[in-house]
Amino acid sequence: MCGIVGYIGNREALPILLKGLKRLEYRGYDSAGVALNNGGIKIFKCQGKVADLENHIGTQNASGSIGMGHTRWATHGVPNDINAHPHSSQKGHFTLIHNGIIENYAELKSKLQHRGYEFKSDTDTEVLVNLIEYIYLKGNITPEIAIRLALSKVEGAYGLVILCDKEPETIFAARKGSPLVIGVGDNEYFLASDATPIVEYTKSVIYLNDNDVAVIKKNELKLKNIKNDILTPKIQKLDLELGQIDKNGFDHFMLKEIYEQPKSILDTYRGRINTNSNELTLGGLYDILPKIEHARRIIIIGCGTSWHAGMVGEYLIEELARIPVEVEYASEFRYRNPILYKDDIVIAISQSGETADTLAAIKMAKEAGATVLGICNVVGSSIPRETDGGVYTHAGPEIGVASTKAFTAQVTVLTMIAILLGRRRKTVDDNLYSSLINGLLALPEKIEEVLKSNDIIKEVSSHFYEATNCLYLGRGYLFPVALEGALKLKEISYIHAEGYPAAEMKHGPIALIDEKMPVIVIATKDSSYDKVVSNIQEVKARKGIVLAIVTKGDTVIKNMADYVIEIPETPEQLSALLSVIPLQLLSYHIAIMRGCNVDQPRNLAKSVTVE
Ligand code: F6R
Repeated sequence: MCGIVGYIGNREALPILLKGLKRLEYRGYDSAGVALNNGGIKIFKCQGKVADLENHIGTQNASGSIGMGHTRWATHGVPNDINAHPHSSQKGHFTLIHNGIIENYAELKSKLQHRGYEFKSDTDTEVLVNLIEYIYLKGNITPEIAIRLALSKVEGAYGLVILCDKEPETIFAARKGSPLVIGVGDNEYFLASDATPIVEYTKSVIYLNDNDVAVIKKNELKLKNIKNDILTPKIQKLDLELGQIDKNGFDHFMLKEIYEQPKSILDTYRGRINTNSNELTLGGLYDILPKIEHARRIIIIGCGTSWHAGMVGEYLIEELARIPVEVEYASEFRYRNPILYKDDIVIAISQSGETADTLAAIKMAKEAGATVLGICNVVGSSIPRETDGGVYTHAGPEIGVASTKAFTAQVTVLTMIAILLGRRRKTVDDNLYSSLINGLLALPEKIEEVLKSNDIIKEVSSHFYEATNCLYLGRGYLFPVALEGALKLKEISYIHAEGYPAAEMKHGPIALIDEKMPVIVIATKDSSYDKVVSNIQEVKARKGIVLAIVTKGDTVIKNMADYVIEIPETPEQLSALLSVIPLQLLSYHIAIMRGCNVDQPRNLAKSVTVE
């Protein structure tokens, strides 16, 4: 939520800030702003996207080699010019951009109001910047001390970049709960919420930890924690190429990422499946495997699409390894006082590695003594740093707000975990093992084949794009796919859609079916096939319009459904990985036909770092 960039060095800051903000727009896009320090701090900000900010700045003088920028996803206060960041303190000594939420802002605001502070915006950020100024002026102390003292009074999450008029050669940064990366250049430093704005300037980065405060001049970086302990910055090499964050000729990041799945899945299992011996190894779990293998139960936590991947994981681990699995929304789990045992294995799934609810649930599980593993995409993000072990998905940067390749990469990792556990527990025999490993190895090619149906899927989409509701049905491994298909449709096309286990239809949703109701049934040849065929007949008997995702060569459903999309055959346990692809494309085309902005759907942001 919210993207932050900063620069200090010898170059003009504005172009770096604007370019960086465009890369971070996936994090929020309802208003944007920059502040530049050039013998006085100048702020430009407005409601809208970064392009609107660019127009707003126009030909005004916005020079300066120290600056910061922000693209906002509103939490406190509607998106408008006043609530846009940066925010300045009342007397103008401090200017600040913020990602996160100050939870005790109301109490702090009222104290400041009693001391004569007035507020222009509805944001928690303006409270923080005034708190820093109040402490600074009252204590007659340095800006750095004032920042640290103010942060010690704050509850909540923040990634912050701060300028102070009294120290015009310095930029301050701080982190608690919201990510912040510093790029180390030659007599210059870059700051950003993630590494994408930094990668073209330097590959040397420092990921700030919670409670870190950085005091940065163009040729010096001092790192402390809020208690004033001096820390040694850990410089890491960035494993990211510029080409990975471009659209590479695709109209949208979402489409590019759908098309990347043959490669991203291969990257997920590359080096983990030995293609000569078919041996499977997951280095990040190596030390913990014996513990997982004997676990009494596994709890999988995540949000949104990652939770759907977790559901596939539940089915896989229970079937293949025969270990009981529970799947929980992280947001529910963290607040419902769940029973946790010290021998529990908790697997947290997150593309971004920054989702606030998932992070909080991890902390709770750790406090209860459970072993926590992570399945994350963003290397160096918060979740992998909080967990006892885990597996990176290596899907490459996912920039489209609707998750696609991250889902298939997560399911690939969960499949490997389930197979590995099943092998060790002797619940997966040699035949099943070979069939699953060969099935995984064949997936990239089979996904390529599904992608060749894009024109058919586009044509089918033209019959659905005016729908107001849609029902998605699937059974077994395909039930989570139905949930994921419905989520993809609603989030980017704003059509109301629900995913259901196909058999549950009779217990309520069937009442919705009439000649206007599209029903998308994932009906590949698996153990529930005959039952799903009956479900399709039930829908057709009530005049519903059926689009079925079927196994190549299926003739039975072809004669029943209004539209079919064929996908290649694959072992049932891998069926989620193939059948989700046409549903991603379907949502994409429907959203385009409805004129929606697929990469930046309304009200959404990629990385949900607030509750
Ligand atoms: C949907 C989507 C979201 C995320 C959810 C969790 O397309 O992208 O539902 O899956 O916000 O995000 P991560 O996986 O980053 O924890």
